[in-house]
Amino acid sequence: MLITEEPIFRRFWYPTLRLEELADGPKPFTLLKEDIVLWQQADGAPAALEDKCPHRSVKLSVDSLVVDGTLRCGYHGWRFAGDGGCVLVPQTPDLAPPARNAAKAYHCRERYGYVWVCLEEPVRDIPDLPHADDPGFRQVFEYQETWDANALRIGENALDLSHVSFVHRETFGEDESPVSPDLDLFEMEDGVGIRCYVPVANREDQQKNLNIADDHTLRKMKITWRLPAVFTIRITYPTGLIHQIIGFTTPIDDERTHRCQFVYRNDTEADAPGENVAAFDRRVAAEDRRILETTGPDYPLDLHAEAHMVLDRPGILMRQILADWLDGPPEERAGLETAAE
Ligand code: FES
Ligand SMILES: [Fe+2]
Repeated sequence: MLITEEPIFRRFWYPTLRLEELADGPKPFTLLKEDIVLWQQADGAPAALEDKCPHRSVKLSVDSLVVDGTLRCGYHGWRFAGDGGCVLVPQTPDLAPPARNAAKAYHCRERYGYVWVCLEEPVRDIPDLPHADDPGFRQVFEYQETWDANALRIGENALDLSHVSFVHRETFGEDESPVSPDLDLFEMEDGVGIRCYVPVANREDQQKNLNIADDHTLRKMKITWRLPAVFTIRITYPTGLIHQIIGFTTPIDDERTHRCQFVYRNDTEADAPGENVAAFDRRVAAEDRRILETTGPDYPLDLHAEAHMVLDRPGILMRQILADWLDGPPEERAGLETAAE
């Protein structure tokens, strides 16, 4: 399956840039092969338009400015509102611009400090994130990168515990003792989750980040993947420390993913500087990235297309849920009960 060829994926919200990145002007972004321009309106709310001026087709992200809360095209200065409507043709300021001057607009909202975009009528809301509004937790931004890998492969990797011993052997894994935890697998309407305990190596940098002196520790894990671009990994250590990873895998196209990550932690900057916490997780991410970038654009839903092992049950369930959703959200699938019933 190619994610850009399945219409359902155009109906989900995706995190794009951080809102603060729009403070100094409009920015381009590509979502599911669609070029868009993001900018910030007078009230602070973000807006997303097709990155193509309806006048002479130039990119609205190039040499454009935000003027009085409107987006001013860099070529002839037409101005656009957040809904795409052309509000001014500066060469004829006394004439109301006709409707055909409008640029194409997309659904756009801010949440968790990110600009979320949905290309068509949304089938689900932006997901709620654990600990997002919890005053006992601090937020540590970790990274934002473009990975040359398929977004669904990255999502599946978050649910994949059997790679830890090998891919992460220099950070927290041990390849001489492959991890094989008992999984408590659960299905959500729009995703997959697992709960388990995972023994890990606890090397010097993590001993400081966790304030755990032992060279091994136990992670109590809860991992969720929500269709199509959000995963969460909650790690609870024996001390009660919670390291809640929020991962975004926004598909630029079938082979490139806008990869963002931050964490919520219930400790303080004095316990473990955010910079050090982020540095460790960036090393872990670089290990995942290196291996995931060797896969191709296809994410096969046919279970016979690839070989599997017992610990792949989360990925298999993920493929089954994706296959169901290709026919639409549950409430639109013929013959099925609606989610509300
Ligand atoms: S191309 Fe945008 S105003 Fe002319
Ligand atoms: Fe990993």
